[in-house]
Amino acid sequence: MKDAFGIPQSLLILGGTSEIGLATARRMIARRTRTVWLAGRPSLALETAADGLRTLGADVRTVDFDALDPASHEETLGKVFAEGDIDMVLLAFGVLGDQARDEAAPLAAVRVAQTNYTGAISAGLVCAGALQTQGHGSLVVLSSVAGERARRANFIYGSSKAGLDSFAQGLGDAMHGTGVQVMIVRPGFVRSKMTAGLEETPLATTPDAVALAIELGLRRRSEAVWVPGAMRVVMSALRHLPRPLFRRLPV
Ligand SMILES: NC(=O)c1ccc[n+]([C@@H]2O[C@H](COP(=O)([O-])OP(=O)(O)OC[C@H]3O[C@@H](n4cnc5c(N)ncnc54)[C@H](OP(=O)(O)O)[C@@H]3O)[C@@H](O)[C@H]2O)c1
Repeated sequence: MKDAFGIPQSLLILGGTSEIGLATARRMIARRTRTVWLAGRPSLALETAADGLRTLGADVRTVDFDALDPASHEETLGKVFAEGDIDMVLLAFGVLGDQARDEAAPLAAVRVAQTNYTGAISAGLVCAGALQTQGHGSLVVLSSVAGERARRANFIYGSSKAGLDSFAQGLGDAMHGTGVQVMIVRPGFVRSKMTAGLEETPLATTPDAVALAIELGLRRRSEAVWVPGAMRVVMSALRHLPRPLFRRLPV
């Protein structure tokens, strides 16, 4: 059960090596979280991440999870929920892709969409259903400002996040009144391994800042948070810019 401040006792991270996910886990463990499940593709990085959280005093378990294998989600995630209540699920998996390469290789582009969007649909529905059965819990979805308006420079990733964001909004409405909260997180550029080597965009932020925003959002029972907060205003302006103008922006 979450405490009065919305901090979960148990946390499931889908995308167990995500830097944003792990920063969130560290923050939650420092508050109250005792049990952490890291769901991800089996790797040394996943085990190292689990060991790192164990040194902070949490009971950490790993479970195989591949966003690209939606047929397995019900069984694998069902096993996690069968072990005990999960107070918070963080949907943190995703790939950025390589826009130029993916435009020339449609199957690679489809893989980005299948990971970020359709993979999240099956995992999101399975988790939301399990949380609903419990009667409580939060599903926190890492969307992106990239989904708010598709940019020439990354519209394959952006469109997958637009789909994810829209799905999460609808799921939040479906969960309304059930005791389950769906919170959408829309970060701008975050310095993590996903963006390593890329040129930073204005208002670049860190995994720790996203983790803090998640904590505050849970406390306030927010439906959506932008990181940094100023991104909300920026994106609101960008969304309404006429296309001929938007095209000329160096974004
Ligand atoms: N970094 C940013 O600028 C930024 C901005 C806005 C939103 N976001 C979103 O925030 C989330 C976390 O990003 P991050 O910055 O923490 O990136 P990250 O450190 O690169 O983490 C990405 C995670 O996705 C996992 N993943 C990729 N494909 C997968 C698959 N098929 N099945 C299961 N897991 C898979 C990776 O696991 P492996 O270890 O197996 O590869 C890794 O755990 C993503 O959804 C991302 O789109 C990031």
